Amino acid sequence: MKNILVFGAGLSSSYLFKYLRAHAAKENWRIGICDANQELAKAKAALSKHFFVVACEVINDEQRNAAIANQDLVISLLPPALHILIAKSCIVNKVPLVTASYVSAEMQKLDADAKKAGILLLNEIGLDPGIDHLSAMKMIDEIQAKGGKINSFKSFCGGLVAPEFDNNPWKYKFTWNPQNVVMAGQSTATYLQDGKTKYIPAHQIFKQTQTVKVPGLGNFEAYANRDSISYIEPYKLKNAKTVLRGTLRRTGFCNNWQNLIELGLTDASKSIEGLEKVSYRDFIASFVPVQGNESLEKALANYLGIKQNSSLFKNIEWLGLLKNEKIGLNDATPSQVLLKCLLNKWQLKKHELDMVVMKHEIDYTLNKKHFHVGSSMVIKGEDQTYTAMAKTVGLPMAIASKLILNGTIKERGVHIPISPIFYEPILKELKTYEIDFKEKTQVLSSHK
Ligand SMILES: NC(=O)c1ccc[n+]([C@@H]2O[C@H](COP(=O)([O-])OP(=O)(O)OC[C@H]3O[C@@H](n4cnc5c(N)ncnc54)[C@H](O)[C@@H]3O)[C@@H](O)[C@H]2O)c1
Repeated sequence: MKNILVFGAGLSSSYLFKYLRAHAAKENWRIGICDANQELAKAKAALSKHFFVVACEVINDEQRNAAIANQDLVISLLPPALHILIAKSCIVNKVPLVTASYVSAEMQKLDADAKKAGILLLNEIGLDPGIDHLSAMKMIDEIQAKGGKINSFKSFCGGLVAPEFDNNPWKYKFTWNPQNVVMAGQSTATYLQDGKTKYIPAHQIFKQTQTVKVPGLGNFEAYANRDSISYIEPYKLKNAKTVLRGTLRRTGFCNNWQNLIELGLTDASKSIEGLEKVSYRDFIASFVPVQGNESLEKALANYLGIKQNSSLFKNIEWLGLLKNEKIGLNDATPSQVLLKCLLNKWQLKKHELDMVVMKHEIDYTLNKKHFHVGSSMVIKGEDQTYTAMAKTVGLPMAIASKLILNGTIKERGVHIPISPIFYEPILKELKTYEIDFKEKTQVLSSHK
């Protein structure tokens, strides 16, 4: 019998539990579920006789240590800031841990302790980060193994709405944590372009986009992720002149979002009091300098430097930001007000499906010829529970967990899944769930 404890039963967990349920009898697993939302934990536990609820206050050291003490593996799908508490208890109790979140500086510092405890702390094994590492490293290793020299590496991913339900003027709906969407692009982005390190300050990120073509789906635009530079070394890309990781949106989204940034609506630094009687219109008016008896519409268009009859302006209106409807919040930051407004307009309807898109673009030189290879993955959700996002986050976590428990993955310390030990078996099994990439290589030119 192997004991698994899963912390977090939120939006991204549905497919993880589906996999654990399907494999529990054969693998002889017993699976505890802990979530601050007891109803959520109970609902998941009801799905299988192999599942049960674990009551534990995660921030209570004693309770957390006791819950982890007799486990064979822990999976954390909690908000990222809580992983470190879980990781420390895993080290004390010598239990391996799996998360889908970025390795924080604090987590990285646990490497030596994890090795000493003889355990693996595996992070970044979701979609992005996760499947991007697995699939990109497979391509990079294959190109380099045949003697290819990688000149440019770009990787993009987006959680989007499936094309048949892409029917609002923003071409976007919430398909995962809405708060993360609103808070995206809030720090400087850094990447390598033509041998030079580039920085994009947060307020410019949505202005500096590039076009990404995905076969069968057409053009998207991508904005730069926070830190592409730190992946140069682990991805073995020291000779590359361009290294960029970015987020995909449908074309036009970034220009529209930039207007909300310029208005100050993504600001989360200041809470504004007494909003309960304020309408969205009055709220926007408080951000815009209005001259004399000029209309708010005219003042807003002038302020943003856009035309009142432009689609950019109409898209702001479409969100309801100029309506007299009450916000209905008491004290809130501008980003909380924006989130409330967007939740009204960008909600997926019951029958609507999400879609995850990933694309890697690599330029390399081999035998004096230049090649461009594009590799793309498109996954559509099954329904509102088994979304494409939950599938592509949960399955890599679940498969990695199985491979750790059955001894296939023997790494120790803090890791991200960038070596063949991880990507070979995980990508192979993901293929059986139709999580796969379509690759196309073109010869660009030959050296003279
Ligand atoms: N790598 C990827 O591609 C990827 C994609 C999506 C999410 N993620 C990560 O997966 C994790 C979960 O994401 P999600 O979309 O399911 O989020 P979610 O907000 O839907 O779920 C988080 C769950 O944690 C629970 N929780 C919060 N605080 C808690 C506490 N103190 N004690 C117990 N339970 C607590 C909440 O009740 C909630 O059910 C996050 O860390 C997120 O960053 C990674």
